[in-house]
Amino acid sequence: MADTDVREAVRQRYGAAAQRVSGGQNNGCCGAAAGEGGCDPITSNLYDAEQLAGMPEAAGRASLGCGNPTALADLRPGEVVLDLGSGGGLDVLLSARRVGPGGKAYGLDMTDEMLALARENQTRAGVANAEFLKGHIEDIPLPDASVDVIVSNCVVNLSADKDQVLREA
Ligand SMILES: C[S@@+](CC[C@H](N)C(=O)[O-])C[C@H]1O[C@@H](n2cnc3c(N)ncnc32)[C@H](O)[C@@H]1O
Repeated sequence: MADTDVREAVRQRYGAAAQRVSGGQNNGCCGAAAGEGGCDPITSNLYDAEQLAGMPEAAGRASLGCGNPTALADLRPGEVVLDLGSGGGLDVLLSARRVGPGGKAYGLDMTDEMLALARENQTRAGVANAEFLKGHIEDIPLPDASVDVIVSNCVVNLSADKDQVLREA
């Protein structure tokens, strides 16, 4: 399969997942609310209630990650964070909260439906210091050395060119 075909298959899969969440359903797998959908118990309920407080319900339902990078990353006030493959935006919104108004959290995703969902979740959460960018994790649309911390949740594995993702990061 050519790299562009891999990308298109991934885009279609996650576009459909975003549409399910926007339509009020579960995303189909994994993430914060997956326990409700009978998904893999290892990748469900990754975020505790305290972390999810104040986050839109759809942001939790959209979560398709297999970990919780915001629980592991040592984020400090004023830092700039980038989430590679930000999906419905939960990790970006949680990161924005951690870096505070003097910092910023960027989400990067290639799927229009996910970007729309993430921006809706941002509006619902009332988070001002976050921005969702359209693009590919193999070619990050930000200036070099403009980010302090990069996080990513179950996305690098989807790239057909993982070396390029890591070089770019
Ligand atoms: C498994 S979901 C994870 C979403 C999010 N990180 C989370 O934890 O819910 C993968 C996401 O990465 C995006 N994605 C996959 N490959 C990508 C690439 N090469 N460039 C940009 N985004 C990509 C998809 O559109 C999808 O939103």
